[in-house]
Amino acid sequence: MTSPYEHHDYDVLIIGAGGAGLRAAIEAKQRGLRVAIITKSLLGKAHTVMAEGGMAAAMGNVYAEDNWQVHFRDTMRGGKMLNNYRMAELHAKESPERVLELEQWGALFDRTKDGKILQRDFGGHRYARLAHVGDRTGLELIRTLQQKVVSMGTDVFMECKVLRLVHDENGAIAGCVAYWRPTGEFVTFAAKTVILATGGVGKSWKFTSNSWESTGDGHAMALWAGAQLIDMECIQFHPTGMVWPLSVRGLLVTEGVRGDGGVLRNSEGQRFMFNYVADMFRAETAESEEEGDRWYDDHTAGRRPPELLPRDEVARAINTEVKAGRGSPHGGVYLDIASRRSAEFIRRRLPSMYHQFMELAGVDITREAMEIGPTCHYIMGGVKVDADTAATSVPGLYAAGEVAGGMHGANRLGGNSLSDLVVFGRRAGMSAADYIESGAGPTGFDLAEVQLAVKDALAPFENENGENPYDVQRDLQEMMQANVGIIRTGSEIDFAINALGEFAERVRNLSVKGGRAYNPGWNLATDLPSMISVSRCTALGAANRKESRGGHTRDDFPKADPEYGKFNFAHQMTNGSFDSEIRTERSALLAMPDELAQLLEEAK
Ligand code: FUM
Repeated sequence: MTSPYEHHDYDVLIIGAGGAGLRAAIEAKQRGLRVAIITKSLLGKAHTVMAEGGMAAAMGNVYAEDNWQVHFRDTMRGGKMLNNYRMAELHAKESPERVLELEQWGALFDRTKDGKILQRDFGGHRYARLAHVGDRTGLELIRTLQQKVVSMGTDVFMECKVLRLVHDENGAIAGCVAYWRPTGEFVTFAAKTVILATGGVGKSWKFTSNSWESTGDGHAMALWAGAQLIDMECIQFHPTGMVWPLSVRGLLVTEGVRGDGGVLRNSEGQRFMFNYVADMFRAETAESEEEGDRWYDDHTAGRRPPELLPRDEVARAINTEVKAGRGSPHGGVYLDIASRRSAEFIRRRLPSMYHQFMELAGVDITREAMEIGPTCHYIMGGVKVDADTAATSVPGLYAAGEVAGGMHGANRLGGNSLSDLVVFGRRAGMSAADYIESGAGPTGFDLAEVQLAVKDALAPFENENGENPYDVQRDLQEMMQANVGIIRTGSEIDFAINALGEFAERVRNLSVKGGRAYNPGWNLATDLPSMISVSRCTALGAANRKESRGGHTRDDFPKADPEYGKFNFAHQMTNGSFDSEIRTERSALLAMPDELAQLLEEAK
């Protein structure tokens, strides 16, 4: 084949330059392979930086009692047992090594008095377990990995938007087709393997901590290429996003504020979280302020304050308080660390939060409480992968990080994403290298797929009287927020499924003016098909899961149903067009070996 466009050829092509993509690149590069990273954004700018408070790893630096078994147990319980147990096991076992490796590569973690890596408290973790760099941990992780990747001579293509994956004639992955955002010119990449590390989908909701990049491109491309998506109904609303001023609504307020002693209060000044302790966590949650406060000094004697329940529990409680009329003036509740910690402590431990509120809201968090509310932060669902290899069901295609499903079940514990990125980014890089070394690889490059993608991408320029992509995006975000948001009900979900059919037609009828160079309206027009496909999977999963579990709460089925705890909902497309039919079916969870099941039993 000869591509009519600028063309490149690699062994391993990584789409996405967040923590998972960078870590995968290092691994494949160490094996002597030709590796490239493509990002539609700039190197260093990824949602990874929004994991501010830390990276969970059972290092036992602060509490010697901590170990991988406790971390595994916490992760499974936090995920409401919907997790791929093998991913949770590998993650718990390998995270400490990945932290130490980052340190060797130059990451400057905060320290205990005796010089070990300091670990902080986060929700759902039994022990203080998050290695951190103030409240800028994700940024430090990206900085460290990026430096390593660049020093190894890895090719990085920035501001390059991938439209579709390309197969060979046997259905194996053979590369992708993309365009340069600065020029609008098309470019093709042939590759023996592709690793998806594209992050999440948060831009389909109105209030989100996600930046413009998170449009579910990798989820959608995997689906269009024939892979399965699982758990797409499980969306994480982080309990604490800014609610005011409106221009920054949704911006993350790190869980580190609560981890370091911050508490939640309603408009009556009440620490309302005491009223929302679910039975599953009652035995380990404090019943009084005093008992909760002891936790910070001694995890073995105390019980965890209710603000450190898993995120799904806290977000639902805030939602209920606001709905009951006990919210703050701008529709949130109060997060107060000022009355509990010294100004010096707050500025030292939470420097970004201090500046964020001071600059954006004129609020001094060392003196006043913050107004916060839930914000769409993360999707637990993603591409179905093999735990050990990160391989999808499509030969040559791998997925790691937020784009992959299974690791976090129905709800992710804070801090488990940074460790997930490096544990499974490394494994994806290793497996891609093994695949190539075994002699496997594509036998061609389907130019028909390239031409179809180019035709679809250019269609909005041909259409004189269609819709503006920004109008469609705004309506989509409002619709998803209202109908497939933090609390859902059957009639709303059905409405969303129908509405998404209409959105697909609107996306077919987009109009874009101007040229292809630096045209953000056109760039958005090429993101919208992904947003629609992925939102359809979320709505279909939500309709099918007739229970409440983790990041999927149904008003009409408020309890978890043990029967639904036995399987994921898996989505697959019948043909690769963004609006073609999606088949949704039950896919049984992996059976857990007795010795691991025992760990969970012991904890009851
Ligand atoms: O709150 C936070 O700092 C976010 C961390 C995470 O999502 O893991």
